[in-house]
Amino acid sequence: METELSQQLGIEHALFGFTPFPAVAAAISRAGGFGVLGAVRYTAPDELARDLDLLERHAGGKPFGLDVVMPARKVEGVTEADVEAMIPAAHRGFVQDVLARYGVPELAEGEASGWRITGWMEEVARNQLDVAFEHPIKLLANALGSPPADIVARAHDRGVLVAALAGSAEHARRHAAAGIDVVVAQGYEAGGHTGEIGSMVLVPEVVEAVAPLPVLAAGGIGSGEQVAAGLALGAQGVWLGSLWLTTEEADLHSPALTRKLLAAGSGDTVRSRALTGKPARQLRTEWTDAWDDPAAPGTLPMPLQGLLVADAVSRIQKYEVGALLGTPVGQIVGRMTSERSVRAVVDDLTRGFERAVTRINRIAGRSAP
Ligand SMILES: Cc1cc2nc3c(=O)[nH]c(=O)nc-3n(C[C@H](O)[C@H](O)[C@H](O)COP(=O)(O)O)c2cc1C
Repeated sequence: METELSQQLGIEHALFGFTPFPAVAAAISRAGGFGVLGAVRYTAPDELARDLDLLERHAGGKPFGLDVVMPARKVEGVTEADVEAMIPAAHRGFVQDVLARYGVPELAEGEASGWRITGWMEEVARNQLDVAFEHPIKLLANALGSPPADIVARAHDRGVLVAALAGSAEHARRHAAAGIDVVVAQGYEAGGHTGEIGSMVLVPEVVEAVAPLPVLAAGGIGSGEQVAAGLALGAQGVWLGSLWLTTEEADLHSPALTRKLLAAGSGDTVRSRALTGKPARQLRTEWTDAWDDPAAPGTLPMPLQGLLVADAVSRIQKYEVGALLGTPVGQIVGRMTSERSVRAVVDDLTRGFERAVTRINRIAGRSAP
C-alpha cells in the first residue's frame, strides 16, 4: 500500500493512525503505518516529553508524528483561571444536578482531573511545540484550523511535514494557502470534531481543491475495503482514529468503556457540543442526551464547555458510571467488536485492501497485479 506520500515518509503502508496513547502510536509505526500522538490532553510539557521519549523508544526506528491544536489567532495572556471565571453559574449548577442525579462520586481531595483539555491554549500549545521540535517527529498535524505561519516555517526548517484536518474544501484551501504539506479530509462519520460533509463526498472535493497537495482520507475507515475506497477517491493515504480505541495497546482506563465501545453499533454515536463546545462525534449517552434536553442551559463555546465539564467527565470515567460513560468515537464503532492488537488491526486492513483490489480488478476485467 504505497503512495508518493508513504514513500516520502519511508513507511510501508499509507496508513496513518491518530491516537491519544503513545503505546498505540508506537505499535502503528512498528506495524508499518504511521503513528500520530494526540497532544491536546497534555497540560504539562514534561509529560508530553516523557511520552514522546516512550514513543520514540518503542517505534522500532520507524517514523511517527504529533497532533497539536495550534491556534491561528494569538490570544496573549489569557489563563485558564480567566476562562474559568467566564463560566455562568447556571451551567455549573446544571452539571452538578446531572452528576447528583446519577450519584457520581466526587474526585478525591487534590486529585487532578485527567480530562482537562487545555492544549488549545496559546501558552500550552506553544510549550507543546517546543517539546515536539526536540523530538524526531516527521509530521506535525493541526486539529482545528490552519497552523500559524511561524509554526509552519519552524517545522519546515526541521524537515517536518505539516498536516491539517479539514471538514470542507474551503477549509482545505485555507490550509493550502497557509503553506501546509498534507490535508486530512475528515468526513462527518469521524470520531471527534467533525463537519457536516460525509467522507464519500468530501474526499474527492478536497483532492480537487488542493491538488497537487497530498490528501489523507479520514472518517469511517475501519476495513481494508474502506482503505481502498479512500485511495480510489484520490487520497494518498488514510487517517484512522476510532479503530485504535479498542486495541490491546490502548489505555482507556475503563474496562466498562471498552465493553461499551465493543457493544455499540454504527448508529450509537451523536455529534454533540457537550464535550468541547464544538460539534464532536462521540458515543451517545445519557450525558449527551441531558445536554440535548430542552431543559438544559445549552452548551458554551469552546473553550468554556471543555473546562466546565472536565471534572465531570473525569468523575464519570473514574467511577465508570455506565449510563453517562462515553468517549469521542466515530460511526465505525459498529465494526469494533473485539479487542485486538494494533498489529492484527493493521494486518486486517492490508489484507482487506488486497481483497478489494483483487475484486475491482476482476470487475474491470483485469487479473490481479
Ligand atoms: C478519541 C478521539 C479523539 C480525537 N482527538 C483528536 C485530536 O485531539 N486532534 C485531532 O486532530 N483529531 C482528533 N480526533 C479525530 C482523528 O484525528 C481522526 O480524524 C478521526 O478519528 C478519523 O475518523 P474515524 O474516527 O472514523 O477513524 C479524535 C478522534 C477520536 C476517536
